[in-house]
Amino acid sequence: MSFIDIHDLSVTYKGKNRTSPALAGISLSIERGETCIVTGPSGCGKSTLLKVLADILQDYRGEVLIDGTAPDAHRHNTALIQQSYGLLPWKTVKQNIALGASIKDIGWDNALYERTMSALAIADIGHKYPGELSGGQRQRAAIARAVMQKPCMLLMDEPFSALDAMTSANSRKLIYHMLKDRQTNDMTTVMVTHNIDEAVYMGNRIVVLAGSPGRLFRTFSNSFAGCDDDSPERRELISHITATIKHSADEETLQTAL
Ligand SMILES: Nc1ncnc2c1ncn2[C@@H]1O[C@H](COP(=O)(O)OP(=O)(O)O)[C@@H](O)[C@H]1O
Ligand SMILES: [Mg+2]
Repeated sequence: MSFIDIHDLSVTYKGKNRTSPALAGISLSIERGETCIVTGPSGCGKSTLLKVLADILQDYRGEVLIDGTAPDAHRHNTALIQQSYGLLPWKTVKQNIALGASIKDIGWDNALYERTMSALAIADIGHKYPGELSGGQRQRAAIARAVMQKPCMLLMDEPFSALDAMTSANSRKLIYHMLKDRQTNDMTTVMVTHNIDEAVYMGNRIVVLAGSPGRLFRTFSNSFAGCDDDSPERRELISHITATIKHSADEETLQTAL
């Protein structure tokens, strides 16, 4: 049995007057300690998939097992970095981060706090309130809060998308090395991104969803995780994945046009 076992998962959002199918027939297994990247065109259900794993969305069909049981954020010690960050506006960054850790019963690790804040280039914003931060700083504060929770399952929804290229590269390095660290290498990660270079840096496996509702389109295994050099093989994989996503979007457009 894998750490995450998803079998024939379908999700349909039900509104007052209409229903919108978001995912259809997804089957996917993710091993303990694996970093699985989920990518694909906007609207193909990537965030929806993370919400099911995070136990935020319980109304789904099919079977989802995490470590043998249905998603349970507390039991599975889940940390989710959402696209909207979810920081409390009346608490400072440091208080937000400390609260995240205390809710999970994690003792305060000041060395880890300082290391994380400086790797994310936000060492000087601990005393500030979320309202005083730029979008990118808010996003990094949310990443720091998730890291400090020492989660077993880390779910990240486009965590680096609002960051400039340099900070984004530093942040992904920090998270990658944290995941490979001896103490955390059994942490299972699912990360959504549109950035294929980032996907190939972070993921053991890259899953492409496509369509509306989203289906599993292709899966790639990746041996370039953590690899910085720009080899022709790595570039080839990146263009192959990029072409696959484009192809999936073209196919969808064709199907709706016919
Ligand atoms: N709360 C919601 N209510 C109704 N429809 C939703 C809701 N959230 C997402 N959707 C729809 O479900 C589909 C998948 O959305 P989402 O998972 O956010 O896609 P992605 O993250 O890949 O862009 C989209 O068509 C979106 O409009
Ligand atoms: Mg999304």
